[in-house]
Amino acid sequence: MDIYVKDVSHTFSQAGLQSDVLKELNCQFSANDITALVGPSGSGKSTFLSLIGSLDRPTGGQITYNGQDITKWKNRQLSKFRAQEIGFVFQQFQLLLDLHQEEECGILFVTHDLALAERADRILFMQDGRIIEDRRKQTIRSV
Ligand SMILES: Nc1ncnc2c1ncn2[C@@H]1O[C@H](COP(=O)(O)OP(=O)(O)OP(=O)(O)O)[C@@H](O)[C@H]1O
Ligand SMILES: [Mg+2]
Repeated sequence: MDIYVKDVSHTFSQAGLQSDVLKELNCQFSANDITALVGPSGSGKSTFLSLIGSLDRPTGGQITYNGQDITKWKNRQLSKFRAQEIGFVFQQFQLLLDLHQEEECGILFVTHDLALAERADRILFMQDGRIIEDRRKQTIRSV
C-alpha cells in the first residue's frame, strides 16, 4: 500500500489558543519500506503518526492511501479502514524486522534511539513540525 502525504498541516486549538504543530509536510511511503521517524520532543512525531495511522484527520492537506484521500472519510469509514489496514507495533524492532520479511506492508515507527533508527530503510527527521531530512539507507537489504 502506497501512502502519499501532501501539504499536510495540523493545528491544535485549545482554550482559544492555536498551535501549528505540523507545517506543510510532503512525503510518501511505499509498501515493504520501514521508515523511522526521529526528532526532538515536541517536533510533531506522534501527531504525524496519528494522522498517517488514521487516528485523527489533519486540519490541512491530504493523506492518500492507494489513491484514496482518507482525510475526507467519515469516522465510521475511517475506523473500518483502521481495523482492517493499519497496525500499530510498539517498540519491538525484532518484530518489525520479521514483518519486513514476511508481510507485504510498510511500517512507520517513532523512536528516540538513533541506533535503532539506523536499522530502518529510511529515516525521516522532524523538527518544529517540519520534515528537515529524508534519508534513505544506501545498502541493499537481502531477502
Ligand atoms: N492534543 C493536543 N493539543 C494541543 N497541543 C498538542 C496536542 N498534542 C500535541 N500537542 C503539541 O504538539 C506539539 C507536538 O507534539 P507531539 O506529541 O506530536 O511531539 P513528539 O515529537 O511526538 O514529542 P515526543 O518526542 O515528546 O513524544 C507539542 O508542542 C505538543 O505540546
Ligand atoms: Mg511522541
